[in-house]
Amino acid sequence: LTYIARRGMATKLTVKSLAIIGSGQMGAGIAQVAAATGHKVVLCDTAGDILEKAQAGIQKSLQRVVKKKYADDPEKGQEFITSTMANIETTTEPAKAVVTADLVVEAIVENLAVKQDLFRTLDKFAPAKTIFASNTSSLPITAIADSTKRQDKFAGLHFFNPVPVMKLVEVVRAPGTSQEVYECLMEFSKAIGKHPVTCKDTPGFLVNRLLVPYMLESVRLYERGDGSKEDIDVAMKLGAGYPMGPFELLDYVGLDTCKFIIDGWHELEPENPLFEPSQLLNELVAAGKHGKKTGEGFYKY
Ligand code: CAA
Ligand code: NAD
Repeated sequence: LTYIARRGMATKLTVKSLAIIGSGQMGAGIAQVAAATGHKVVLCDTAGDILEKAQAGIQKSLQRVVKKKYADDPEKGQEFITSTMANIETTTEPAKAVVTADLVVEAIVENLAVKQDLFRTLDKFAPAKTIFASNTSSLPITAIADSTKRQDKFAGLHFFNPVPVMKLVEVVRAPGTSQEVYECLMEFSKAIGKHPVTCKDTPGFLVNRLLVPYMLESVRLYERGDGSKEDIDVAMKLGAGYPMGPFELLDYVGLDTCKFIIDGWHELEPENPLFEPSQLLNELVAAGKHGKKTGEGFYKY
């Protein structure tokens, strides 16, 4: 972490190197945009084959980016892909991933105990300067941060799927997050080409607090037999201008992730009808139908 002295003021933090833990849909996307903007990235997951799949996915996504960005200069496009991929190292050992990191971004499964376990370990191996951030969709940042001794260097950094395309990042400032760390993450978000917004540590921050109840309400509409999922999807695309209908979006986000989110919020607020779990969603997840990433969810892929 570069500490740039500001005359008579607190030091300014800059992120140059990252460790990204979890190389699924989100972790791979975050690695891609960070590497593409000149940051050094160590990408970590539990097994070598998962990391290989992530690297292949990044390569494929970069080709889509290049097709548009370097339409007139394919050679330069290829150079961009090569230099971006060269910025990404992989490892299956989280302790090794964090030793040189200015910033750790966690994008593993949406489960509080598992995230806390990971950060408890990372806290022992990461230098004191290292900032920790979670890409959680729905869990309280404070509860995750409490597994470490660096609450001041802990925040939420919430990206959107697909990361290379979606411009938004929610910077979640927990009560313990320091001003310097908050400012650093706002700047980092801009440095990777995103538009940051500031959020408090409240369930679902801004986007998911609106989007998840909407998606669950769509499932309830369908479960009541008031419309087919195909018609509901078409209706929201053509009638409300959404790029995807709610069932397409549920499949895209991952039904397992959506279930983790709604179950967690239901536990927090059992009386809130917006957070009522869905029988159909539960059945699909139990059957291993997690959406696009497993080949089937509400639709087949
Ligand atoms: N990598 C790189 N580029 C990609 C890409 C990827 N993974 N996916 C799409 N693109 C690019 C395409 O190459 C294409 O580029 P051009 O315009 O240059 O051709 C462009 O994006 C549009 O893609 P497509 O033509 O393939 O398809 P589309 O027009 O249907 O767009 C989409 C795809 C961008 C995903 C669009 O459907 C969309 O915006 N969907 C809604 C996504 C959304 O709401 N995401 C938020 C989910 S909630 C969340 O993430 C938070 C959480 O915690 C759960
Ligand atoms: P995913 O299932 O695609 O990927 C999760 C990855 O984490 C897997 O590759 C898994 O092997 C790995 N993993 C699990 N435990 C691990 C551990 N202890 N150490 C290292 N790696 C581990 O999930 P995803 O969709 O990428 O979601 C990841 C996180 O991002 C979740 O917290 C989710 O809520 C959040 N998120 C998801 C979306 C979305 O649209 N899918 C959007 C924003 C945020």
